[in-house]
Amino acid sequence: MVRKPMNNSTVNKNRTRELVLTEDGSFTFFIPEAEETYHSIHGADQEGKFVFIEQGLRASNASPVRILEVGMGTGLNVVLTTKESSRLVDYVTLEPFPIEEAKINEWILSRVSDAEMAQRIHDMEWDATAQLTPQFQFRKVKLGVMEFQTTALFDVIYFDAFGPKVEPELWTLEVMQKCFDLLQPGGIWVSYCAKGEVRRNLQAAGFKVERLPGPPGKREMLRAIK
Ligand SMILES: C[S@@+](CC[C@H](N)C(=O)[O-])C[C@H]1O[C@@H](n2cnc3c(N)ncnc32)[C@H](O)[C@@H]1O
Repeated sequence: MVRKPMNNSTVNKNRTRELVLTEDGSFTFFIPEAEETYHSIHGADQEGKFVFIEQGLRASNASPVRILEVGMGTGLNVVLTTKESSRLVDYVTLEPFPIEEAKINEWILSRVSDAEMAQRIHDMEWDATAQLTPQFQFRKVKLGVMEFQTTALFDVIYFDAFGPKVEPELWTLEVMQKCFDLLQPGGIWVSYCAKGEVRRNLQAAGFKVERLPGPPGKREMLRAIK
């Protein structure tokens, strides 16, 4: 039986998404009713590279490395990670509320140098596995994090849910416990969020938590080690 994702907040019910330019020249979506963006307005690409690739992927020694992304959204973090060619990557991303095709097509058109990869990612069937580059294996799953089950644990979790203000149910102790269970010992959980309550939930779930300097426009971010 497929369970419904537990969260059903404004950002997911509301379909209005506006493509907006961020400060590094890359684009993101803005949800006016929730006053929430999919990425930092100081730079979508810059945030993805800094938070998830530099502080997440590159902090892991695992090779091959298994990555789980919570919140595929536009697929930006997938596109950015396909460019990391130093080791084999097995990437699974979760998205219970995919962005509608017309909007995704707008976003793909905004990708100057990697539109072709972005298109391939969105053209794939849900639950199919594909080799997107010789080093990069990919699967997207249309489930929320609490519904997702696996026997193969991960080395890194890119935790890229909407912020705790709009989706508090994704930052609870229960969700952090689930992330803990999905990681290998020594596995890394990383997010742009720096909220004290999230840090305490991660600690209560069993993680060792670090506060790191954030990407431009953000003072701090969190990284947690199992
Ligand atoms: C901040 S956006 C993700 C940005 C994305 N990583 C990108 O690069 O575009 C958060 C995403 O999490 C998704 N989401 C919502 N509930 C979720 C859940 N229970 N599990 C996983 N993802 C969820 C939302 O639909 C949304 O696409």
